[in-house]
Amino acid sequence: MSVIPILRLGAVKDVRRFQEHLHSIGVPIPCDNELLAGRESPLQWPLHRGGIELANRFAIQPMEGWDGLPDGNPSKNTVRRWRRFGSSGAKLIWGGEAVAVSHEARANPNQLVIAPHTHAGLASLRAVLLEGHREATGSAEPPLLGLQLTHSGRYCRPNVYSQPEPKILYHHPILDRKLGLSPDSPLLTDQQIGAIVEDFHRAAGAAWELGFDFVDIKHCHGYLGHEFLSARTRDGMYGGSFENRTRFLREVVEGIRSGAPGLRIGVRLSAFDTVPFRPDPSLSSNGKMGPGIPEVHDHLIPYEWGFGVDSHCPTQIDLTETRQFLGLLQELEISLVNLTAGSPYYNPHVQRPALYPPSDGYQPPEDPLIGVARQMQAARQLKSEFPKLIVVGTAYSYLQDFLPYVAQAAIREGWADVIGLGRMVLSYPGLLLDASEGRTIQHRLVCRTFSDCTTAPRMGLPSGCYPLDEHYKTSEPAVKLKAAKAGPR
Ligand SMILES: Cc1cc2nc3c(=O)[nH]c(=O)nc-3n(C[C@H](O)[C@H](O)[C@H](O)COP(=O)(O)O)c2cc1C
Ligand code: SF4
Repeated sequence: MSVIPILRLGAVKDVRRFQEHLHSIGVPIPCDNELLAGRESPLQWPLHRGGIELANRFAIQPMEGWDGLPDGNPSKNTVRRWRRFGSSGAKLIWGGEAVAVSHEARANPNQLVIAPHTHAGLASLRAVLLEGHREATGSAEPPLLGLQLTHSGRYCRPNVYSQPEPKILYHHPILDRKLGLSPDSPLLTDQQIGAIVEDFHRAAGAAWELGFDFVDIKHCHGYLGHEFLSARTRDGMYGGSFENRTRFLREVVEGIRSGAPGLRIGVRLSAFDTVPFRPDPSLSSNGKMGPGIPEVHDHLIPYEWGFGVDSHCPTQIDLTETRQFLGLLQELEISLVNLTAGSPYYNPHVQRPALYPPSDGYQPPEDPLIGVARQMQAARQLKSEFPKLIVVGTAYSYLQDFLPYVAQAAIREGWADVIGLGRMVLSYPGLLLDASEGRTIQHRLVCRTFSDCTTAPRMGLPSGCYPLDEHYKTSEPAVKLKAAKAGPR
């Protein structure tokens, strides 16, 4: 656990001071001294690789709003968010947000679903995003636009938010306990998996007909695709060997290639993980959770339930199988790869470094800059080993005002091909367009990682940037959120 107080980046006014701070805490993150504009800016460099052309180097990460209609169609807030995604000027839109391949696959009762009755709604999201892009950039050249397809697996809650309906591939000694699953809770059968594979095929075919350029077969954050990768203890054709654990991916890809041959495929991958974390009980008091500590796992060595972790010391990264997985993507001629890490459910500090945890989360166990650097380093390493892939990097939002300086340096120095923006886009969609076109940065819109966009859904409210986005500031959910945060926890 970090004993050095964490420097609040919002209070750091100049990039040199930020660089000194990085140096003083020994965090290796590249950072330019000044911002460049136009074609001088690496963020505006075009990319041509493997038949894919991108006109700039920033992307919008998938960001769900828990604000779809009960039948899986978008709401007005969903439409607004997608317009803002488009207005970011990013030439790669990675999936918009997680869209469930069936009702049962939803992670919450307000998640979008892809099904015949939602096709028109999803088409309107695509249209509004492209319109937002045209209006903000004046460019007729559309971004490469994907749809993230998901099955929520262990984290399914399709009907009532307070009623989890987990669909698991194997029994996990820590996560089962956290989710209250008994040892005889049923596993998804191979036959049920076959039906899910067909749901992905149907969903991809529909995405293709709706005009999306690619689909992301989501393999991250503890959801089903990710859980396959660690299904070592599962029997049968989807568990055990690496080949079996990647059968789901291969079957989904095969069906998409025959059913929607022109559709590109991407994969968002949790490149590494760590064991689940919990708040340190000895440092929790008065309703405030302590800093995160790893769940006890000494009795679980070798640790078989993680992907991208060292089985002898599972709090450490091991990229051996991650490399194997990227090699498989290359064999399958998938070149769009979005690298993320961990899971928001059991180690959020790894997945999205933040100074302020959501209301039900532990305090940061480390300087969040360490979390940013961890993801950046993994992306850098893997990109250098797989130069044919287009690697999107993740977890930049915590860098706040210094994000454009780091993003610019990261592209120039080859740490990632494209910089993905998550939370920042909820508060300030135009940050990297402003930065790379020489416009003044609007500091009041910069995401400070307050985590309200995560706290709200945990309380059954739609997500959004309640502190900084005018649209939400005085909304009814914002009032409820404030009251809930002020009350006892
Ligand atoms: C409110 C919210 C919704 C998210 N929804 C998704 C999602 O639908 N699919 C996904 O792959 N990641 C999702 N993420 C993770 C982000 O895409 C991103 O990986 C994470 O926030 C770290 O990037 P950042 O530092 O730029 O925020 C979500 C994160 C947040 C905070
Ligand atoms: S609520 Fe707004 S400021 Fe807070 S993490 Fe989310 S986007 Fe950033």
